[in-house]
Amino acid sequence: MSKITAAITAVHGAVPEGKLTNADLEKLVDTNDEWIVSRTGIKERRKCAPGQAMSDLGAEIVKGICDKRGISPLDIDMIIVGTITGDYRFPSTSNVICDKSGAKNAWGHDVSAACSGFLFALTSGQQYIENKTAKKVIVIGGDVMSSIIDYRDRNTCIIFGDGAGGVLLEPNEEGLGIQDSVMKADGSGREYLLQKAGGSKHPITKENFGTHDMYVYQEGKTVFKFAVTNMADVSAEIMERNNLTSNDVNWLVPHQANLRIIDATARRMGLPKEKVMVNIEKYGNTTAGTIPLCLWEWEDKLKKGDNIVLSAFGGGFTWGSIYLKWAY
Ligand code: UT7
Repeated sequence: MSKITAAITAVHGAVPEGKLTNADLEKLVDTNDEWIVSRTGIKERRKCAPGQAMSDLGAEIVKGICDKRGISPLDIDMIIVGTITGDYRFPSTSNVICDKSGAKNAWGHDVSAACSGFLFALTSGQQYIENKTAKKVIVIGGDVMSSIIDYRDRNTCIIFGDGAGGVLLEPNEEGLGIQDSVMKADGSGREYLLQKAGGSKHPITKENFGTHDMYVYQEGKTVFKFAVTNMADVSAEIMERNNLTSNDVNWLVPHQANLRIIDATARRMGLPKEKVMVNIEKYGNTTAGTIPLCLWEWEDKLKKGDNIVLSAFGGGFTWGSIYLKWAY
């Protein structure tokens, strides 16, 4: 019997309508369009309306995927969600999405790996398909970063945006789908990129309420150095392990944190710009949302059998690459 692999068979994205342009941010903090574009590549990002949560984006994705695939939410076995901005501390956003989308037969869980959240969740979903525990797994990556961003902090508010994407994983017997993955983590990086208050180490108290500790803290320069090196290294590693040359790779789908990090990764892999998915100018850094949002936007250009490398680096630190063959 041929080996079962986990293949992506549908993809969908969800971004809120509200936009936050560089000109809007110029009114909030001491920054300017020229600085943001030249240092990051970002022109605008999306922002959820009050009350619009991660589960709303997720439920839209489940419905979109089911419509495209011609199936019912009742056919879904599992929903796995990579996010650091779930609706609640508990229950999981997976639970809420199952309920809101009508996926009444599904179970699932959330994965917390910041910007690598989609890759970590995808690797998790892959296991359930390969060991035949599930036949239809929806993997979602996304974040409502506006819920944890301090719009008085120019170091962070210019980068992050809201958005999510997701894919359907199904068993494949043609050898398509996920071929290999390299996942890495180094918890000593936590001090450079984190949300300090709100967890069990520093619960919200009247002393820290309203302070910057409630929001994302990032030591940008340090994170940048680690991101440039590690995202390029892990992308080169997955190519080497699978004997892929730059000619063999059809697409790089990089996490969209900073155009300079994306360019460095593509250079290391020997890939021309035409093979690199970039939409950072429109959405900014949607944390776990960037990679599936790219797949959603490029879906029409992808061909069955295309060799695709997904790569990310993020808070934790967490990073990794997945090599897959497109299945439709
Ligand atoms: O998502 C996964 C993890 N995150 C990342 O991968 C993000 C990694 N880091 C970055 O992308 C970059 O470090 C940032 C975009 C956050 C910052 O860019 P940078 O080139 O590292 O800037 P910097 O922090 O070194 O600051 C350079 C200068 C400073 O001024 P001086 O000291 O040279 O006079 C800053 O005060 O730019 C100033 N600056 C700004 N100016 C205008 C910092 N932020 C801003 C701003 N607008 N928003």
